[in-house]
This record gives sequence, structure tokens and C-alpha cells, in this order.
Amino acid sequence: MEQQNLVLIGFMGSGKTSVGIKLSYRLRMPVEDTDKLIERREGCSVSDIFREKGEAYFRQLETELLRELGESKAGKIYSVGGGTPVRPENRELLKKLGMVVYLRVRPETVYERLKGDKTRPLLQCEDPLGKIKALMQDRKAAYEETADMILDVDAMTLEQIQGSIIMKMVSQR
Ligand code: S3P
Repeated sequence: MEQQNLVLIGFMGSGKTSVGIKLSYRLRMPVEDTDKLIERREGCSVSDIFREKGEAYFRQLETELLRELGESKAGKIYSVGGGTPVRPENRELLKKLGMVVYLRVRPETVYERLKGDKTRPLLQCEDPLGKIKALMQDRKAAYEETADMILDVDAMTLEQIQGSIIMKMVSQR
């Protein structure tokens, strides 16, 4: 039986990439990060894409990529960019892609984790904590609507997150 995909969604700094890598080792499933796939294709960083071509262009690339991933062989772990579930079309594509796990975090956690980070164009502003809170509020419903499982990960270790996701995957078989 073909294994289904696992899709990790959540705000910037929620731990999608680290959780994806950890699960990849444990489950022996390949992991792909949609931001990295886009960077490889475009030959430049997400920050450069935002600066040179704008956010709308990046959002279009995300949608096109999701469509393609839906056609490819299953059995992978995907960690997707924090803004991907905002477009209704993307929410449908994500749900079709596999079991969606939302790693939910508090704004303060994101702020602490990403303080000084220069790779998130949306947070390069005067008041990053205010921006994190506003974006999270706007996106809350989109994340929740897309998810098959929600984990409040602020105080969870990577092992605990991994264990919870594996239990859910097993129960869905
Ligand atoms: C974004 C999140 C980023 C990246 C881009 C926009 C967002 O991905 O896609 O900077 O809108 O939240 P991560 O969630 O992997 O940081």
C-alpha cells in the first residue's frame, strides 16, 4: 500500500523544518521543504524573490508547486512556507496532498526564536512582534481549517512532537 504524504504547516519559526527532518530519519521518508524547492528552481533566495519580484509572484510559485507535488509519488514529508495556507486554493491543494499537521505556536515564541533572523522578509520591520501577532491573527482560521491535527508546540520537545505525529499517522492507517 502506498504511504500517504505528511504535510507540516504553521507560522514561521514553528519548527516545521526541524520536525520534518527528525521525522524523515525516524520514518525513513524523504523530506522536502517548499521554500527550498522554490529557491532551487528560481536560483535565488526567498528574500531575493520578495525583493525583486514581489510577494504576489512568490505566492503564485507556491500554488504552482503545490499543484505539481500533488501529481508526484506519495510517501514524502513536506514542510511548507508559513503563508502557504492563506490562499483558499492552496488549502484545498494541501488537504489533497496528505495528512496535514499544524504546528501551532504563540507569537512570543516565534519572536524569541527568530530574533535577529534576516531570512524572513515579512519580519524585517520596526515592530516584528506586532507583525507576528497581526499575521497570526489573520492566518489563524486558515491554518485551523487546513489541519487534520493541531499540536501546540511551544513547550513540546522535538521527541514529543514526533511521537504525537506518529501516533496520529498510525491511527489513520
Ligand atoms: C512566509 C514564511 C516563510 C517563507 C516566506 C513567507 C510567510 O517560510 O515562505 O518568507 O508568509 O509566513 P517559513 O515558514 O518556512 O519560515
